[in-house]
Amino acid sequence: MAYTASKLLSANGISMKSPYPNATLSCKPACCVEGRDWQRHRKATAPPFGEPNMGLVWTECIPQATETLDFWKECSHIRQTGKDVRRFSLHVLSTTGFGKSYSFDRSTDEALREGDSLTYKDSLSLILENAILIMLLGPKFLTGSLQQFLPKHWRLVGQATSTFKKHISESIKEEKALIAEGKPHRGNFISAIGSQNLRGHDSIAITLTYVITHLAAYPEIQDWLAAEIRHVCKDKGATTYRDAFPKLKRCTAVVYETLRTSTPFPAMVKTSGPQPRSLKVGDDTLHLPAGMNIISTIPSVHPHPRYWGADIDTWRPERWIETSHEASAVAFVFDSGTLYTPPQGAFLPWSEGDRACPGKKFAQVELTGAVSVLVEPVPENGETMERARNRKMDMIKDSGMVLLIEILHPERVVLRWVKREARD
Ligand code: HEM
Repeated sequence: MAYTASKLLSANGISMKSPYPNATLSCKPACCVEGRDWQRHRKATAPPFGEPNMGLVWTECIPQATETLDFWKECSHIRQTGKDVRRFSLHVLSTTGFGKSYSFDRSTDEALREGDSLTYKDSLSLILENAILIMLLGPKFLTGSLQQFLPKHWRLVGQATSTFKKHISESIKEEKALIAEGKPHRGNFISAIGSQNLRGHDSIAITLTYVITHLAAYPEIQDWLAAEIRHVCKDKGATTYRDAFPKLKRCTAVVYETLRTSTPFPAMVKTSGPQPRSLKVGDDTLHLPAGMNIISTIPSVHPHPRYWGADIDTWRPERWIETSHEASAVAFVFDSGTLYTPPQGAFLPWSEGDRACPGKKFAQVELTGAVSVLVEPVPENGETMERARNRKMDMIKDSGMVLLIEILHPERVVLRWVKREARD
């Protein structure tokens, strides 16, 4: 529907309840709650996503992205961008969410076997990689009395779910003990985030893989970004969340444009609720029966020419920057530019209304921080730029539904990373 779907839904008081609590397409937990329980959960989980904690996200994501970049630069080519980016996002989540820090070191990877004692990170990583299996079968089935008859990998995943639960309980106990002793707690999000937001990590990793693949196809946008990063981080010396994040508008524009053209969420599933109700659409009034499912498809709103002009299918991050015509001096171009605010309902990667993503700012900060570090992928040796661009864009087009929409074969995106003079 060309109308701004979520605006219509919220304006008309349509319930945000998902009719598929066990197979939701969103990054909501499989056990998502409704009504008063949801309000209680939302109230409890809101504070950690607030502005005061965003500095922590920034402080964690910049060194993680730098380590990832250093590692990539040492390799002749990278075939597992998708996997490495998941590791990056997992590490940021581990530190900010659970107070466990890890360094980016692929060489420590070993194949896990059943019976191995699983670290916090192993179990978290197994859970995230096998989210569909866990959602379909449920942790109880994977760890229950039939466990011995299950395939080996399923048993390992079951072991990960119980180990992770233990790690979380221990972390919560430690946090409570610190609070009871009147000591400052560790400043992470553990008490409120819990395991609920793990799917947010997936959305971030998917988005970042799209961002990197686009950047590899558009070196001129890398130059455009590098100029901003040099101006903000080098010339102005702004490196902290408070100083740098709001000024890195081009980096944020790249994230937004990627979410506009390649949003991981295919649809928002809502219901009219327990009572019949009316929905106003333009001049018409639609009468909806009780319990009707309403699915608004985000990818059909994002390329709407009414909001995005004639080149809707082109990945063009510049469309997000509004610069004054008088701006001529370089510094003034950067400092006077503002980020475009689309009309309400025209840009919905995080949804809108009461059930909108509470992790929106978290994601914006982490993704912008990552882009400010990771701007230098180049195509494989010997490939012309045009051929490289077409190939990358074909890989992006070859996206499909896994748990969310993502590049189906990220392993085919082969990249080299080189040191950019502008950042020296
Ligand atoms: C690019 C990254 C992300 C995108 C595109 C995204 C998108 C979304 C969308 C569209 C919804 C609403 C789904 C619906 O109404 O059906 C949602 C819900 C949610 N997201 Fe995200 N998300 C992202 C990152 C995160 C992060 C980083 C976290 C946590 C750290 C997070 C936590 C949540 C939670 C807890 C909900 C459920 C909210 C509720 O039901 O009240 N998300 N997300």
